[in-house]
Amino acid sequence: MTPDSIRRIGILTGGGDCPGLNAVIRAVAKTAMLQFGIEVFGIEDGFQGLIENRVRPLTFRDVSGILTRGGTILGSNNRCNPRRYCTSTAADGTPIFSDVTQLCLATIRDRRLDAVIVIGGDGTMSCAAPLVEAGINVIGIPKTIDNDLFGTEITFGFLTAVATATEALDRLHSTADSHHRVMVCEVMGRNAGWIALTAGVASGSDMILIPEIPYDEDAIGQYIRQRMDSGPGFAIVVIAEGATMRGGSQVISRIDPTSPDPIRLGGIGQQVANTISQRTKAEVRTTVLGHVLRGGMPVAADRILATHFGYHAVSTLMSGATGRLVVRENNIFSDVDLLVCAGKQRLVPTQHTLITAARAIGTSFGDDGTHQSHAPRPTTDV
Ligand code: F6P
Repeated sequence: MTPDSIRRIGILTGGGDCPGLNAVIRAVAKTAMLQFGIEVFGIEDGFQGLIENRVRPLTFRDVSGILTRGGTILGSNNRCNPRRYCTSTAADGTPIFSDVTQLCLATIRDRRLDAVIVIGGDGTMSCAAPLVEAGINVIGIPKTIDNDLFGTEITFGFLTAVATATEALDRLHSTADSHHRVMVCEVMGRNAGWIALTAGVASGSDMILIPEIPYDEDAIGQYIRQRMDSGPGFAIVVIAEGATMRGGSQVISRIDPTSPDPIRLGGIGQQVANTISQRTKAEVRTTVLGHVLRGGMPVAADRILATHFGYHAVSTLMSGATGRLVVRENNIFSDVDLLVCAGKQRLVPTQHTLITAARAIGTSFGDDGTHQSHAPRPTTDV
């Protein structure tokens, strides 16, 4: 299909929501309408809407005034993978899965969509892969608070999550100081520690525990004792939900068998709090920020990033490219093969400069300071 023949495009938002989704929808739709006279259609609830043919036209008015709004006007879904879709359950409650890619293709045909803009993380890009393989014009836009999508140095939503976590950590700081307590704060991020690392540094947290650097209980105990006994007498620990003890495994809060990524993490913060209580005399409290990080208005930097990504997605499409993911690398916007990035995670390199800088100012990573790099791991999460 030549760029000239692209007259109607669909947009969907997949996976867990994040601040900035509406800002991207706005940027895609306005660029398409104003620059190319393209009709824009919103696909509801991610791939669910594509499977169920729930698609509605978006007017200029629909996408005006939504730049600052949290969530997504289209709805999203992180329990829906067309290639492995739960169609029914067996008598014992076991889900039965089918490949319903053909239903998605039928919706695209029925709605005469010449291209689909897919806004999501690594799992959503995996869900989009069969559409690309079937010859559909797909352009991906990287979204997730976790900032873990392979191929791009940043995803929108991340900076807002970091700002929210930083504010929460700042608030914990003053109450920790008043009561001479240790505050453990668990943040989201799945298998990546980007949120914990970045908010931890921004808030001046004393200890940052991330999945990429497994912690040692003795090292944690020793550091906290020293801070309580001969330091300021309080401590802030920020921990990523995917963090693990050296030789241990991640703490799972819930398993949803119908979800493409059935595992939901959560609970490691309380475990570390227990460890600190057992190994020190400190009074410890735990806070779990959870979905608070996904809600609310995007910060200015995310609105700007979202606008750039939305514009680049339409420009990439209209340049004749297909099956591409728009990315930012070394501060430059470009695009890469979507199929190469689908399903891959970008973890924090253990030699990251922010880790080096944090260590230099005395921040503990709950280890002895030596660590190995991790390669990106495949996942099926959406
Ligand atoms: O990927 C975004 C994210 O918020 C992760 O940080 C978290 O592990 C997961 O989604 C939570 O998923 P749910 O909304 O299904 O609880």
